Amino acid sequence: MTDASVLRPHAEQQYADELALLAEHDDRPRPPGWRLSPWAVTTYLLGGELPGGQVVSPKYIGPRRLMEVAVATLATDRALLLLGVPGTAKTWVSEHLAAAVGGDSTLLVQGTAGTSEEAVRYGWNYARLLAEGPSEQALVESPLMRAMRRGTVARIEELTRMPSDVQDTLITILSEKTLPVPELNTEVQARKGFTVIATANDRDRGVNELSSALRRRFNTVVLPLPDSVDDEVDIVARRVGQLGKALELPEAPAGLAEIRRVVTVFRELRGGMSEDGRTKLKSPSGTLSTAEAISVITSGLALAAHFGDGVLRAADVAGGIVGAVVQDPVSDRVVWQEYLETVVRERPEWRDFYRACREVS
Ligand SMILES: Nc1ncnc2c1ncn2[C@@H]1O[C@H](COP(=O)(O)OP(=O)(O)OP(=O)(O)O)[C@@H](O)[C@H]1O
Ligand SMILES: [Mg+2]
Repeated sequence: MTDASVLRPHAEQQYADELALLAEHDDRPRPPGWRLSPWAVTTYLLGGELPGGQVVSPKYIGPRRLMEVAVATLATDRALLLLGVPGTAKTWVSEHLAAAVGGDSTLLVQGTAGTSEEAVRYGWNYARLLAEGPSEQALVESPLMRAMRRGTVARIEELTRMPSDVQDTLITILSEKTLPVPELNTEVQARKGFTVIATANDRDRGVNELSSALRRRFNTVVLPLPDSVDDEVDIVARRVGQLGKALELPEAPAGLAEIRRVVTVFRELRGGMSEDGRTKLKSPSGTLSTAEAISVITSGLALAAHFGDGVLRAADVAGGIVGAVVQDPVSDRVVWQEYLETVVRERPEWRDFYRACREVS
């Protein structure tokens, strides 16, 4: 059960009620090892109404087809790779998929430049290894090995950050569905239901290429940036509401107008063009994704609630926006100043925002 003092419950804890409801109403066939049918998993992700009138909240906002392809992939013997620029909900979708399909989103390997082969395969408890020699008790399972034994979903975050030789240890696991343990002269054979969801970023510097041998083992789903301003405003408003509740921020209505303004600024700078298509803009070095917009608004709400009058105003978001845009103190500052003077200043209804930005710039 969820402990209310936990800062960030896992998806399967936070949405336990919805998952239970879906399971109860779900009379479609479930693939081996699955908690729900593919249809119910998709409903969990995209939201919907159940026959009894209960509402399932949407977790992912975007094209339905993408989620259907992702869920269908997991029902085959292929692994799923979620690819996209930063902040497109790759990690978020991976966690919710694992929670809905296998009921456990915690079997996770984080890919970094320092990820070792042991983190992917298995390691040893050295005290026991020295005292007793290699044995099943001295073996330390990796999350992947545990998922294979249980027949459930394992997650790999930032796959392309792992060194290439470590990535390649996945090939046998994904194609043979076995993990040899030569020290014990055995192997672990994956049970039905085992699959892998990996995420990778196609923008960040310092990433390793995914080898073509490994890429062939994955079905790739590319998560896009939100299509329209309205979609993006909707995503930010929903997530801000959820985060505000989780952080127990004092109630401060997140003004939709303010959210729309932040989203508009980010989209214009990201796309290099003002909304009306009349002014060409330079793009700053940072990624101004939906995720950054969410954190700018959340910080703004904290400011408004604790130091303001409880209503989100331009001054509460200005600092956050400038911080997100100006990552490089020289080149990004030029980009920002130009945007401020050529676009923001020209909008009569943005006067309060212009003033607030001038103050913190
Ligand atoms: N289309 C969307 N639907 C719902 N939430 C979204 C969407 N796009 C972004 N978000 C929100 O953005 C936040 C960041 O997403 P997440 O961390 O999953 O991004 P990511 O793609 O893994 O980024 P990174 O490449 O930096 O790891 C999450 O809180 C998520 O809810
Ligand atoms: Mg991520």
